[in-house]
Amino acid sequence: MANNTVSLNKARGRAKGQKKDEFYTQYEDIQAELNHYEKHFEGKTVLCNCDDPFESNFCKFFLRNFNYLKLKRLICTSYNSSPVAGTQLSFFDIIEDEMHHGRGYVLDVSKVPMANGRGVSDDDIDKLLRTKKWVKELNGDGDFRSEECVELLKQADIVVTNPPFSLFTPYVQQLFKYEKKFIIMGTVNNTHYKEIFPLFKENKMWVGYSFNKTMMFNMPESYDSTMRDSDGRKIGKVPSICWFTNLEIKKRHEKLILYKNYTPEEYPKYDNYDAIDVGILSNIPCDYYGLMGVPDTFLDIYNPEQFEIVASCQTGCHPDEMVLKTYKDYIGYKQNGKKTGRTGSTCGHNAILVKNDGKHDYYKNAEGIIVQSAFSRIFIRRKG
Ligand SMILES: C[S@@+](CC[C@H](N)C(=O)[O-])C[C@H]1O[C@@H](n2cnc3c(N)ncnc32)[C@H](O)[C@@H]1O
Repeated sequence: MANNTVSLNKARGRAKGQKKDEFYTQYEDIQAELNHYEKHFEGKTVLCNCDDPFESNFCKFFLRNFNYLKLKRLICTSYNSSPVAGTQLSFFDIIEDEMHHGRGYVLDVSKVPMANGRGVSDDDIDKLLRTKKWVKELNGDGDFRSEECVELLKQADIVVTNPPFSLFTPYVQQLFKYEKKFIIMGTVNNTHYKEIFPLFKENKMWVGYSFNKTMMFNMPESYDSTMRDSDGRKIGKVPSICWFTNLEIKKRHEKLILYKNYTPEEYPKYDNYDAIDVGILSNIPCDYYGLMGVPDTFLDIYNPEQFEIVASCQTGCHPDEMVLKTYKDYIGYKQNGKKTGRTGSTCGHNAILVKNDGKHDYYKNAEGIIVQSAFSRIFIRRKG
């Protein structure tokens, strides 16, 4: 992994343990994705509910494009505990009354004036943010689950943000509870969560245009990274970033052209699932209608008219009966023949192939049968 890349596990681990959730999305990344959703915004109320209006590029994007997108209303709420709150132009600069510590604030606009009448400039945004009329203190800290933030959520048509990594599941569950349309950021790992995977399977949520990309984020000074942007602010790379949505997008209906024919030799069956292994998406055979295990990048090319998502090998993402075999009596070996110290119990519910590729660790039982784990797999079936 390149220097300065904040590893996903580290980022998530920290996010879990120490709640390091402060990864600020770059304007260009927001623009590149949201350009695909223009038609959805006309006459709509957009809510960015993890977004300090003075810091967040989501807020900046929607203020700049408020008139172009013909938005009805934009609401952005800040979370008081954010460590960058108040490090740039902030509510503290513009409010004359004493600030109540521990509170978040809300920007709520239904009109964005343009000085030149043609487009919203940075000056226009600056003026708007300095107008007390549009930015108000919340009663609480701005937690997206608080009563007052939920009230705002109820008023929104589309929620757009990069929510905290550590709260991805409750964040998404809340969106579904209030039946909201959304465009949000997350990571490939989120697709494996037992509460999240069924939403993909049931076509309630899908990936947006950008999937599994390493992206640069601004981050607080206390985070590990030696990189700086041109303004001297700390930045770092985070891998496996995805956009997730439940808004209709063209990409979701593009058909994958299938050209390979099935042969049992080229597409071996797993030892523990009744499915064939298809390690490369473009190799999905055109003449096989049984269960297939494919890499989880499948979600990026998933078209519900062409395929059905059946399960995933992740624990909790398939019925237990699907797993035909366990490997408790297998011992793990390195390719040099030394024991890894692991038993086959660590295979969990991974998809297992009887093989030795000569590169990766393997497991062997008393009869000398050698098996290896395939990488993370989603089980799919062709439709029609
Ligand atoms: C990954 S950062 C993204 C920030 C911003 N949406 C962006 O993309 O630049 C997640 C943000 O959620 C905020 N946050 C953490 N817990 C929160 C909560 N319970 N309610 C609302 N926001 C929260 C963090 O302070 C952080 O600013």
